[in-house]
Amino acid sequence: DGDGGAEGDAAGYPEQNITIVVPFSAGGPTDTVTRMIADPMAAALGGKIVVRNVEGAGGTVGAGDVARAEPDGYTVLMHHIGMSTAPALYKDLGYRPLEDFATVGLVTEVPMTVVARQDFAPATFQDLVTHVKANAGTVTLANAGIGAASHLCGLLFQAAAGVKLQEVPYQGTGPALTDLVGGQVDFMCDQTTNTSGQITAKKIKAYAVTTPQRVQSLPDVPTTAEAGMPQLAVSVWHGLYVPADTPPEIVEKLSGALKTALADQAVIDQMAKLGTAPVTAADATPDAHRAHLEEQLTTWQKIISDAGVQPS
Ligand code: MLT
Repeated sequence: DGDGGAEGDAAGYPEQNITIVVPFSAGGPTDTVTRMIADPMAAALGGKIVVRNVEGAGGTVGAGDVARAEPDGYTVLMHHIGMSTAPALYKDLGYRPLEDFATVGLVTEVPMTVVARQDFAPATFQDLVTHVKANAGTVTLANAGIGAASHLCGLLFQAAAGVKLQEVPYQGTGPALTDLVGGQVDFMCDQTTNTSGQITAKKIKAYAVTTPQRVQSLPDVPTTAEAGMPQLAVSVWHGLYVPADTPPEIVEKLSGALKTALADQAVIDQMAKLGTAPVTAADATPDAHRAHLEEQLTTWQKIISDAGVQPS
């Protein structure tokens, strides 16, 4: 804008469209969460937000793109727990979660569900475990690529059950769930944002939720702890990022807009229907998000290496 200097840019921000990169396909959980908050955030900022899906390699392609984008506040990343697991899964990630990004704020935390095609034989979670152990060579487990939350949940399931299954990777939950509904794959573990509607419609069957408490929108589905596998405990936190050198004033503006969006009753209601809720205002901040990311990087590094998974 010709006035030079980051402070001048921050004062007029936003002066052009802001792009939020979703590192998974359209119609999946990350996309759903992003589209819920994009308009209320744009309204709070007095600008326009467009959502761009940059899928591939379990979210790491889109994340890498944003790490290398201009640090001007016009390219933002929505990513989830995969930001903290990828360094343990990829030898050559091409970006560093803590060094290459500035955290804007946490957004939500989404429970996961262990789900199967509607006509898959096992009736209960315990039956599922028995069935996959007996049929490890033929059972197929869908995921959204190495680094995806569904991949992580699948790893934890296999480690807890002591079984190695045939994994079928997709570019996101959107296409994976389409194939699950169509019966092309047997089962998967994915987020309530996208599975709960299909479960309620009886297009897929649910065995368990991966949170300590049952999910309000799925009251009949037991927790993994109730079903005998307390080790399978994971929920998918989401957060917004910008490239590391983005002016702090712009990061603050984005975080403020995020807080406004998360307090929007329509957003709260939509999230509740999908089994989740916004984080508190205190967690929708750069510092709380960064502290959470630091803790999660350590936690998942250990869990993934304890599960015997080597980065590749
Ligand atoms: C998606 O948006 O497709 C998902 O969050 C993928 C995943 O991590 O399982």
